[in-house]
Amino acid sequence: MKTQVAIIGAGPSGLLLGQLLSRAGVANVVLEQRSADYVLGRIRAGVLEQVTVDLLDEAGVGARMHAEGLPHDGVELCFDGQRHRIDLLGLTGKRVMVYGQTEVTRDLMAARAEAALPTVYEAENVSVHGFDGDRPVVRYTKDGAAHELQCEFIAGCDGFHGVCRASVPAEAIALHEKVYPFGWLGVLADVPPVNHELIYVNHERGFALCSQRSRTRSRYYVQCSLDDNAEDWSDAAFWNELKRRLPEATAAGLVTGPSIEKSIAPLRSFVAEPLRFGRLFLAGDAGHIVPPTGAKGLNLAATDVAYLWQGLADHYRGNGTALAHYSARALARIWKAERFSWSMTTLMHRFPDGGSFARKMQQAELAYLVSSPAAMTALAENYVGLPMD
Ligand code: APR
Ligand code: PHB
Repeated sequence: MKTQVAIIGAGPSGLLLGQLLSRAGVANVVLEQRSADYVLGRIRAGVLEQVTVDLLDEAGVGARMHAEGLPHDGVELCFDGQRHRIDLLGLTGKRVMVYGQTEVTRDLMAARAEAALPTVYEAENVSVHGFDGDRPVVRYTKDGAAHELQCEFIAGCDGFHGVCRASVPAEAIALHEKVYPFGWLGVLADVPPVNHELIYVNHERGFALCSQRSRTRSRYYVQCSLDDNAEDWSDAAFWNELKRRLPEATAAGLVTGPSIEKSIAPLRSFVAEPLRFGRLFLAGDAGHIVPPTGAKGLNLAATDVAYLWQGLADHYRGNGTALAHYSARALARIWKAERFSWSMTTLMHRFPDGGSFARKMQQAELAYLVSSPAAMTALAENYVGLPMD
């Protein structure tokens, strides 16, 4: 089998890239190790920057997002028992769109299926070869049969644990990482959100987040120990802990119910440099990870894809300069989002060995933040997403 671009991974990065390339007339094949249902079963954040909304529209998959998504004009920070609203729209002229990543992925999958674009789910033993030359090859097995995909470029959209970054020689890549000493215990429940906008909580007992998927489905998180197991947390224990971290009046309005999903996610900051190795490109989680505090994961994946799509489309139009600049352009934006996500995580969480001084610094920064229009604007412009270059 031959194609122009082999895309490894059918998460948001791979599917969005495939959709944009197809609309630009660039042939591509998506190879995914899991089933479509398994991919859709992943529960991930869903706060979309305007840049991401525009890209999904450009890809022709924005209809349901506009119909069912929830535009949010503000976000709240809660500390010392007080809630403070950051007026995103008033401070930046922009809002964010709350629309679950699962739904973004579902819309992209449906569009790809409707266009009957070549997609191999449950591809096993995927391996990438020859990307340091002009004739890269992807090998995989499917239903026991060995296959070889000859291509001109490989897009590594295979996430943090994928095969593409792992196939790059160690001496050719630099890895930058910070692992945080806590996790997020998340619960999805079919109950109305406690507030119409998101609430990020800094509390003595730990961080909490009140988020949502719709007006009838909520997503909540509490910071937990990395030694915790989700199954050790009963629903009642979760709801009680969340209530202890919320102001009394807010906790009183919290509607609880049975969890339909409960899981613990570790927090990590990670960047690989560069993101291009000959004819292999890394995009999305394959190239970087952010702690979810800044809601940047999906948005960074989308802007990587935008840069890579533009570069590949230009290449096939006979202009290779954009492709040559992919890694530098993507990394410039990635590092700014990494900084914001790290700063929000450092500001809002209880660090086990942080000591009283670190706690005082958090309290001073939060007090300054909500008293300064300049500081709130700085937070707001990062949260809604910095302009693409
Ligand atoms: N072969 C084929 N597919 C693979 C392989 C492999 N060797 N390894 C991983 N994959 C697939 C995974 O099964 C997954 O479906 O690649 C896909 C990668 O998807 P994501 O991990 O969702 O990464 P990405 O598409 O970049 O999306 C980033 O997802 O993890 C969140 O917070 C993150 O919101 C961000 C978004
Ligand atoms: C979520 O809804 O899952 C979510 C929202 C905002 C975040 C992280 C997660 O910062």
